[in-house]
Amino acid sequence: MSNDYKLQIDNVSMVYRGQGGEDITALKNVNLNIREGEFVSLLGPSGCGKTTLLRLVADLLQPTSGKIVIGGMTPKEARKTRQYGMVFQSPVLYDWRTIRQNICLPLEIMKKSREEQKRLSDEMLEMVGLLDFANRYPYQLSGGMQQRVGIARALAINPKILLMDEPFSALDEFTRNKLQEDLLRIWSKTNKTVIFVTHNISEALFLSDRVCVLTPHPGILSAVVDIDLPRPRTDEIRDTPEFAALLTKIRKCFVGVE
Ligand SMILES: Nc1ncnc2c1ncn2[C@@H]1O[C@H](COP(=O)(O)OP(=O)(O)OP(=O)(O)O)[C@@H](O)[C@H]1O
Ligand SMILES: [Mg+2]
Repeated sequence: MSNDYKLQIDNVSMVYRGQGGEDITALKNVNLNIREGEFVSLLGPSGCGKTTLLRLVADLLQPTSGKIVIGGMTPKEARKTRQYGMVFQSPVLYDWRTIRQNICLPLEIMKKSREEQKRLSDEMLEMVGLLDFANRYPYQLSGGMQQRVGIARALAINPKILLMDEPFSALDEFTRNKLQEDLLRIWSKTNKTVIFVTHNISEALFLSDRVCVLTPHPGILSAVVDIDLPRPRTDEIRDTPEFAALLTKIRKCFVGVE
């Protein structure tokens, strides 16, 4: 394994086969290098290939052409050595398991000892601010709290890369903004590489080191915008002229896009 743990997306295209056998080009010649510990967003309208790109990185799909290299490994090797944590739009928690038991599930699969499970789940619960809710069941938690459990579960196995597909899009604006701040705090503590899918410009901008703008038909990486806002970032940054300028800059990338 190389010491240089960058994530390299090299001229990747993805063509699906449609119902009638026709080709659907979801992504075309995408090139992107992501540094270790970087927070990158994939931003674009519905159908531009964001989830496809995330699934390619996660080894849930194979590219039609091009390749992906993760710290010297193929996506398959990276998946098998548990380099990925995944967080989806809905947290997919098991209703019959407590919050702690949900977080422990991947640890059980990895055959961690009971003591190790307790230690790691405590650490994760603490990090997402849910230690007091460890013995509750998912239905007893709000949507935002459930999404935190999803993040805690993804991080429990200590993956190098966190892949997040619109994790906050079902939440109200207040909860969403709070979770964005929480995520940044967790990220700065854990040093993960994060790939975050969203179609919300301000969310991408608030969170990221770089925003990757994808435009559809076919999905093309049409711009990569550096977000040089200072960190740590809190809610107040949303009201600054620098934030507004970046918002305008990214919006312009979508002018003329359906
Ligand atoms: N399994 C599939 N078979 C055929 N076409 C697919 C398949 N999955 C996705 N597509 C098509 O590929 C394109 C990209 O889809 P993808 O789900 O990656 O978009 P997205 O950017 O994640 O959209 P959204 O914001 O709605 O989640 C779309 O045109 C979609 O219809
Ligand atoms: Mg999607």
